[in-house]
Amino acid sequence: MAKTGRKATFAALEKQAERMADRPMRLLFAEDPNRFQRFSVKAGDILLDYSKNRVDEEVMDALFAFARSVDVEGRRDAMWAGEPINSTEHRSVLHMALRYQGDQPVKVGGEDVMPGVRETLANIKVFSDMVRDGSIRGTAGEQFTDIVNIGIGGSDLGPAMVTLALEPYTRADLRAHYVSNVDGAHMHDTLKRLDPSRTLFIVASKTFTTDETMTNAASARKWIADALGEAAVNDHFAAVSTNIAACQAFGIKQDRIFGFWDWVGGRYSVWSAIGLPVAIAVGFENFEKFLKGAAEMDAHFLSAPLEKNLPVIMGLIGVWYRNAWGFATHAVLPYDQRLSRFTAYLQQQDMESNGKSVTLAGKAVNWSTGPIVWGEPGTNGQHAFYQLIHQGTDVIPCDFLIAANPQEDLPPHHAKLVANVLAQSEALMLGKTEKEVEAELEAQGLGEDEIAALTPHKVFPGNRPSNTIMYGKLTPETLGALVALYEHKVFVQGTIWNVNSYDQWGVELGKQLAKALLPKVEGKAEWKDHDASTQGLLAYYHELRK
Ligand code: F6P
Repeated sequence: MAKTGRKATFAALEKQAERMADRPMRLLFAEDPNRFQRFSVKAGDILLDYSKNRVDEEVMDALFAFARSVDVEGRRDAMWAGEPINSTEHRSVLHMALRYQGDQPVKVGGEDVMPGVRETLANIKVFSDMVRDGSIRGTAGEQFTDIVNIGIGGSDLGPAMVTLALEPYTRADLRAHYVSNVDGAHMHDTLKRLDPSRTLFIVASKTFTTDETMTNAASARKWIADALGEAAVNDHFAAVSTNIAACQAFGIKQDRIFGFWDWVGGRYSVWSAIGLPVAIAVGFENFEKFLKGAAEMDAHFLSAPLEKNLPVIMGLIGVWYRNAWGFATHAVLPYDQRLSRFTAYLQQQDMESNGKSVTLAGKAVNWSTGPIVWGEPGTNGQHAFYQLIHQGTDVIPCDFLIAANPQEDLPPHHAKLVANVLAQSEALMLGKTEKEVEAELEAQGLGEDEIAALTPHKVFPGNRPSNTIMYGKLTPETLGALVALYEHKVFVQGTIWNVNSYDQWGVELGKQLAKALLPKVEGKAEWKDHDASTQGLLAYYHELRK
């Protein structure tokens, strides 16, 4: 039976992949001195060099045609027009509104959301300024020196990642901490060094029902009440949520509750009041610059032709590897220590968005969807897992990220960092042939037998793909643009795979089962209704606890 629609396009792409299998990148670079110019594109000062990929113009044309055939542009415009593209939850997807800098209305269900967005930003400004300058203080009149954000997933990863990334913009006397794990160790180890009278908690939860966050918030509340008295809770807590009633029930004062909206997905919420700890840590002006940088990337995404559109190109190349080549994972490798949580943040953004196996219409997909996203900052990764990227049996497409300018004046560190990132993408692309290895070993004076024995171990297959993303400096604006770049990449891929990138039903089952298991773990109920493994583990757990 003839394949149609997406299935046919994936099959056509597989044919293209077969053609490209005989055309390694070494050859493509040798044939075309303009390959870098042909396959690199800029948005602002962010350059995407995608020339070190297994693509030529025919492949890229096929990918752009694919994007057009599934109407990536139409769906993008529908998202921006506030249509409820999150169909399973009947919600709009408008994180772009949170950072929109223009004066046009942005509507959800006919209502302009911008006045509410601006009012919340104004409230964040007032509150963050007052915490920073000491006008808002602890119950005993002490200035806050430590902010503890209690949240998980999108209510943690975004602000935690951004605070680390913008360390040069923080103050030594005002530290932001992030507690997410229900493991008591996280809260305990964070509070160990803090002074309750100088600590402000922000409870961040879109739903204000997430068990981990509510458990951590209750422990923090007790810590404050035990040290400073119940009445101090008012002065030491703020909250960010769409569930205002639940924040009030927790005992948080009305003027310390910062709202957002159901059209902001948790993993897309760092631009909302969820960014409050960032605004406190780096100052509201820098938080605003972070939003502005993202808005610039939005403008690029909304207007640049597909062939010049960074998120579109990155999305399509990801689809190319996932579907035509069957590569299951994608490494994001920032050569920027301050982006040490960037990949962890992207794991939620990408894997919670596109880790789906039914289409928008609820039918099983017939193709692979979201890849496993992983990575660590370079150069640390080089001394850990790059061996597998260079010589392992799996091909792992990589994104390298690098700033041209460091934030600190500490030569020769940055030059070395840059030399390393360039070396990695070059090594992956070129590899090292048998002939090259033999010549090298001969030059070192090794004998014939030893050369024969060593050569296979020292050959690098090469033709391993990577993108390099280079920017001027890791400023708040650039960080905003980079995060938005990946958000839109995920959108493009979700559209191609025909999945709903904005729900996350897959996290529910574990939550339900944990709830049912808790009384059994606590020894308050029988556990005979569980599978043999779970029963065995519970029994051994109770034996160890005796
Ligand atoms: O369980 C997954 C999830 O719903 C994420 O999507 C979300 O970011 C996280 O939990 C936290 O949710 P909330 O902000 O409602 O506490």
